[in-house]
Amino acid sequence: MDDQAWLCYFVTMANRIKAFAPGRINLIGEHTDYNQGYVLPTAIDQGITFNIQKNGSGICHATALQFGESQSFGLENELPRSGWINYVMGTALELQKKTGALQAFTCEFAGNVPIGSGMSSSAALGCSMALGLNELFELGLSRPELAQVVQLADHNYVGVRSGIMDQFTSLMGKEGMVMLLDCRDLSTSYFPFELGEYSLLLLNTKVSHTLANSAYNDRREACERVAQHLGHSSLRDVTLESLLKNQTELSSEDFTKARFVIEENGRVLKTVDALKENDLLSVGAFLNQSHEGLSKSYQVSCDELDFLVGLTTGKSEILGARMMGGGFGGCTLNLIRKDFVKSFINEATSAYKDRFDIDLEAYEVEPKAGARILEKE
Ligand code: GLA
Repeated sequence: MDDQAWLCYFVTMANRIKAFAPGRINLIGEHTDYNQGYVLPTAIDQGITFNIQKNGSGICHATALQFGESQSFGLENELPRSGWINYVMGTALELQKKTGALQAFTCEFAGNVPIGSGMSSSAALGCSMALGLNELFELGLSRPELAQVVQLADHNYVGVRSGIMDQFTSLMGKEGMVMLLDCRDLSTSYFPFELGEYSLLLLNTKVSHTLANSAYNDRREACERVAQHLGHSSLRDVTLESLLKNQTELSSEDFTKARFVIEENGRVLKTVDALKENDLLSVGAFLNQSHEGLSKSYQVSCDELDFLVGLTTGKSEILGARMMGGGFGGCTLNLIRKDFVKSFINEATSAYKDRFDIDLEAYEVEPKAGARILEKE
């Protein structure tokens, strides 16, 4: 580089970055991502904002403004700890493993995705940070690559062998669109999401049952076991016919879980067709079937989620409802007529309080754009 070029290089290199990444909802396709299947999510409004700046020392400092807590860590040889720091440290260390180009930094973050709500505050956290670090240190990684790095932080530091849906959606969501993601090759198609007189309403159970991480990993292992037994690398390649043919060789738990995944994959594609036809009645029916399977077959629901979904039964204003995300707590997703939202929230809030003594939270959500850089200096 000549002198002029060096000067430009230093002038354009940022020292401080502000980045934002959103949480996500998933219309349908639950527990299919780690089976190389299909999902139909979208990014939402709520998310997490990171301020990151280089600090010129050998050590990184991170502050979670919501909790008023700070922690420090180096860029290598750190072991997992507990709580939010694993998402932050894990993302930084996985980026460092991949690029070797990070230097010490100081960061702080805050956001408004309800934690443990199944709206993926954790992906918002990791993706916001990864996008910010990518820009600050000019790492040159693509968004799909960043999503994979954040997923590795989940696997190696948080201890959940999550799929790619949450991170991918947070980074690749588009305003007004739902995204059909093929988790096998990460190809995407986007569809305008027009619900007319209907709306998507989330009801937050405000519970997040313990052992959810190990139950999640157990489900993933069961799916891998079945695929391997049938000679495939994932359930994506197993048909319902071949599963049924081999039923007697599988434990009834493994068979039931694998059948759910295969059927759920089919439901994602059928939902896309129904959306294209503007057939919301069918979309609602698929949501209901999805919940039934998640609750009874895949067994990732809980009393609180089942109760809230149960409240929708027989109400013609609600076309469908299901638990959303990993399960064992978090939110239900309801496809509901706009003019019924208020009265349903009132009814659900009081019934839920009577039954569980918990104050429900409700949010209407719409498809929004994925992660972005907000400031750079
Ligand atoms: C969590 C995981 C995702 C996905 C969902 C269930 O949100 O992070 O990868 O597996 O559960 O669909």
